[in-house]
Amino acid sequence: MSYTLITGASGFLGARLAARILESEPQTHLILTDQVDSPRIDPIRSAVQFIQGDLGDPSLSHDLLSSEVDRVFHLASLVSGGAEQNFELGLKVNVYATLNLLEACRFQGRKPIFVFTSSIATFGGKEMPPEVTDWTFQHPQNSYGVAKVIGEQLLNDYTRKGFIDGRGVRFPAVIVRDIPNTALSGYASNMIREPLAGKDYVCPVPEDTRIPLVSIKTAVETLYALGTIDGSLLGDFRTVNGRGISPSAFEIALAVESIGEKVGLIGTITFKPDPSVEPIIATWPKFMRADRAEALGLPGDRDIQSIIEEYLAL
Ligand SMILES: NC(=O)c1ccc[n+]([C@@H]2O[C@H](COP(=O)([O-])OP(=O)(O)OC[C@H]3O[C@@H](n4cnc5c(N)ncnc54)[C@H](O)[C@@H]3O)[C@@H](O)[C@H]2O)c1
Repeated sequence: MSYTLITGASGFLGARLAARILESEPQTHLILTDQVDSPRIDPIRSAVQFIQGDLGDPSLSHDLLSSEVDRVFHLASLVSGGAEQNFELGLKVNVYATLNLLEACRFQGRKPIFVFTSSIATFGGKEMPPEVTDWTFQHPQNSYGVAKVIGEQLLNDYTRKGFIDGRGVRFPAVIVRDIPNTALSGYASNMIREPLAGKDYVCPVPEDTRIPLVSIKTAVETLYALGTIDGSLLGDFRTVNGRGISPSAFEIALAVESIGEKVGLIGTITFKPDPSVEPIIATWPKFMRADRAEALGLPGDRDIQSIIEEYLAL
């Protein structure tokens, strides 16, 4: 039997990933962990083992890895806005928890597959080009991004030392989020979800703002693929850029309006840049090339219209 651990399993991606794994691998023993429980897990609760706890505590990681876990998806994190507001908590979750988990893998000694979720927020700085590639120098301008760069480097080193078989992806903003979290990129989800629920929405970034986006379906398929491919294909740098599309906030609004009108559900979208959101988003890349992900055959989305239609269909 194969044993898979998902951290941050009560989150947006974690619960969906768990369901995706069970779909293809019903025989896998799935251990889900998070500091909070969530109704997102309810549809699969009877098929999984759920362990509630704080990954900032090293003993939890060691307990979780004491079993025969041979694949880890590490998704627990405090996302961008949250880590900016609370530096210490960000450090605890985004740096120490990752290190605790990697250390537990080293002590466990089974060299598990370890899938790490990095972010587009690892790019930034004055020298950053508008389109980043897999090999653009990472100079993040936010604490969350710095922690993710540290995670990527630890992934490389723990793999080089033979402690894990690491694989990572720098996700663009994943849409359409069901429940808002502290991610500064949340506007891209909110401006789809809220008007299509008949509510008016004030967008906190200017109309011409562009950041790369990926659908939840594609993000989950990407994680699943990364957990199953031959790790040696990743070479000595284990994290790749995720595939994304880059519509402007205005183009998202147009697509929401045209699809919303067809289904008779539409609140208004107005633009009012928020000084606590806009300056950080402005430091992120507008476009992200994902040549390595494409070469690995990782999935991508067609356009914003198809993402919105897929969301409505769900
Ligand atoms: N969603 C996105 O747009 C996006 C983009 C780029 C990268 N990522 C990364 O993908 C991963 C999953 O993202 P998500 O959208 O599902 O995030 P999420 O915020 O929905 O879920 C994260 C989960 O981590 C848990 N967590 C936080 N601190 C913890 C701790 N100390 N101990 C145990 N659990 C803890 C939270 O309770 C939460 O359920 C994260 O690592 C995130 O940084 C997400």
